[in-house]
Amino acid sequence: MAHQGRSFLTGTFACLLLGFFVIQSPAVEGANILGVFTSHSPSHLIIHMSIMKALAEEGHNVTVVSTTQPKVTHKSIKHIVIPLSAAEEKVISDGMTAMAKEKPSMITTMKSLFGSLSMLIYKQVDVLEDKRFTDLYKNKDNKFDAVVVGFFFNFFQVGLGARFNCPLILSWTGAPMVQIDDAVGNPELVATVPSMNVAVLPGHAMDFKQRLANFGSSIFFRLLGFYLDILNVQFYDRLWGKDPSMISYEEAKKNVSLAFCNSHAISEGPIRPNVPAVIEIGGIQIKNKPDPLPQDIKEFLDNAKHGAILFSLGSNLKGDHIQPELIGKIFEALSSLKQNVIWKWDDLKNLPGKSSNILYKKWLPQDDILAHPSIKLFITHAGKGGVAESQYHGKPMLALPVFADQPGNADKLVQAGYGLRIDLFTLEVDEFKGAIKEILKNPSYKTKVQQFSKLYRDRPMSARDSVIYWVNYVLRHHGAGHMQSPLVHMNFIARHNLDVYLLLTTILIVIALISTVVLKFCWRKCCGGKGKSQKTGQKAKVKKN
Ligand SMILES: *[C@@H]1O[C@H](CO)[C@@H](O)[C@H](O)[C@H]1NC(C)=O
Ligand SMILES: *[C@@H]1O[C@H](CO)[C@@H](O)[C@H](O)[C@H]1NC(C)=O
Repeated sequence: MAHQGRSFLTGTFACLLLGFFVIQSPAVEGANILGVFTSHSPSHLIIHMSIMKALAEEGHNVTVVSTTQPKVTHKSIKHIVIPLSAAEEKVISDGMTAMAKEKPSMITTMKSLFGSLSMLIYKQVDVLEDKRFTDLYKNKDNKFDAVVVGFFFNFFQVGLGARFNCPLILSWTGAPMVQIDDAVGNPELVATVPSMNVAVLPGHAMDFKQRLANFGSSIFFRLLGFYLDILNVQFYDRLWGKDPSMISYEEAKKNVSLAFCNSHAISEGPIRPNVPAVIEIGGIQIKNKPDPLPQDIKEFLDNAKHGAILFSLGSNLKGDHIQPELIGKIFEALSSLKQNVIWKWDDLKNLPGKSSNILYKKWLPQDDILAHPSIKLFITHAGKGGVAESQYHGKPMLALPVFADQPGNADKLVQAGYGLRIDLFTLEVDEFKGAIKEILKNPSYKTKVQQFSKLYRDRPMSARDSVIYWVNYVLRHHGAGHMQSPLVHMNFIARHNLDVYLLLTTILIVIALISTVVLKFCWRKCCGGKGKSQKTGQKAKVKKN
């Protein structure tokens, strides 16, 4: 009896346990997922790796190829780092210095696009030719169920879906833009959806000037897209042109299952229609619960009687790219404050100056620091990642944008009332201090950013859960072709209904022509009938003339 009772109990327990696991476990277990992140930007890698980390935590077998060692990771992720050579690193670093020395104009932006950036583009092809990468598909022991590609001037990599014979998902570090729209057939609405260069509050319409600027920007990105596509075809052919088992670039372009976009339109804008393949995962890099801070940082913040400030110009721009006089001015302003300041500084042997209220750190857990209640202000280069973290934690900002999307991000946060912006290149001590004091004293910045924080966090599914759900969805259905926008498969003429307009115009022209002939005929008949002779012979003569 006792034995029976026990086995009955064990049985029930096992059933309960089984039931628990059937309900709790993902429908897709332990799939092999490959991440290919060849863009050289550390901040991009943080976003992409946050996706892969969530998948690894979910129990998937994740392999990642990148050009730098990722900071965000998980113990079970297998890394394949294919680094740049020292010479290549130098080209990129020099490009950054050039951009930071002068105010970025259209010319310098273009120069950087075709200078250090073009190297970044070419390098992404080299990585796919590296033996460490090609082994992934040549070695028959490897089998991938999905591949996630970090998007950054590398659209030829859409071939990786066919290469690994599995669904392909794009990861993009911002809101949907032209190339992402094209990849998944998302409508581009130039009159209502502002691009990243045009700052408009969520839900607000663009005025004439903004629409004009947006139109210009759309044309610019289109032209850039055409140019890049010429390169993409070449890269694609170079990599896989000779392989009969590969589909063409044109085919591969139509085979994107999803695009993860690091945005959240409801809180950040722009409010716009998105096709189902656009999955917004804004803030994926932000932890729901901050990790414990390193001891020195924790003490420094805990002991900040007057609150604390975090100062960071991001991971691309290193301290020695900025002119020394400028660093001197920044130091003079920050050292005179009563607040404690954490300053992200790379060269710890060469400090801008010593002050008891400043703690220099080469690397810092920015997200965890921003979560600390002592932080009253974030002084930032306005990179998308940092701005999102600050907004998530409801911390006002002072923006010192340098290039790329930073000026646009800065304008947006100023317009939304989350902080102020000043020009890094012409910064003066008093102006800098004045801006800091204004944000610390005037409560409106804090109130507004905290209101945003509430909207940003209020979602049906967290960014992390969205990633897991949608990747599992793609795995379950072996791709998401069924929910693809028809726009992907339409050519330029069909997409813009040009053939319909042509037909209608033709019909209208024909109707107009026939009407003219008929009216002319009637008019002549009437006038001829009244004015001239009634004899038929004469009438015919008039008609002939
Ligand atoms: C993980 O995926 C890789 C690549 O397909 C494969 O070689 C490896 O055997 C997998 N590991 C496990 C534990 O399944
Ligand atoms: C992509 O191509 C594969 C075959 O290589 C196919 O099974 C899959 O459905 C396609 N995905 C999309 C989104 O079209």
